[in-house]
Amino acid sequence: MKRSMVLGGVLLLGVFGSTSLMAADKVVSLRGDQDISEASQSAELKHWQDRDPIPRDYVQQPPLIPHTNEGYVINLKFNKCLTCHSWANYKQAKATKISQTHFSDREGNDLANVSARRYFCTQCHVPQAEAKPLVENTFAPLPAVSGR
Ligand code: HEC
Ligand code: HEC
Repeated sequence: MKRSMVLGGVLLLGVFGSTSLMAADKVVSLRGDQDISEASQSAELKHWQDRDPIPRDYVQQPPLIPHTNEGYVINLKFNKCLTCHSWANYKQAKATKISQTHFSDREGNDLANVSARRYFCTQCHVPQAEAKPLVENTFAPLPAVSGR
């Protein structure tokens, strides 16, 4: 956890380091003046658990994960998510099957297996949490495509 946060920080620095973010002097990190090592120790994890899925806000939204995924490995050789969500396994697991979109490559070709760009599920799907928005958001989906 700590390592990935540090890595994320390094990547962000790489991308934004010398450019616009530095210039905007009002931008403050969410952890304020707290050192990153303190922050990662004291940060309370959001409480979430298996419960009814929070409805999607719009149809193209990657649905939130309504169950725990702690320790679910996704690497080159193994993908824990697919043991329940693949088209071969979803019925037995009583899980939602991954949709057709997950089988298209970026040129729009339909593949026989999950596309590489959809393989790392947690890039897009995150566990759901009852978290207050950090900034006000008045987004409202078009009723016809609200996904509700
Ligand atoms: C042990 C089986 C199992 C594993 C492993 C698993 N899931 Fe699930 N998942 C389920 C089941 C069952 C549901 C349906 C739960 C419900 O609707 O309440 C579900 C629901 C979901 C949903 C919500 C779908 C929707 O339409 O709302 C998402 C997203 C999801 N899982 C993603 C993942 C990801 C990403 C992983 C890997 C990190 C994963 N799951 C691993 C069984 C599993
Ligand atoms: C690049 C982002 C991305 C990745 C990576 C990704 N998904 Fe999705 N997923 C989406 C989006 C967007 C939707 C909703 C629209 C759709 O069905 O394409 C979705 C929908 C779903 C659904 C609901 C399908 C339905 O019919 O309602 C499940 C289940 C799911 N994904 C599981 C997975 C699993 C398991 C993986 C990893 C193997 C994965 N996703 C990887 C973006 C992603």
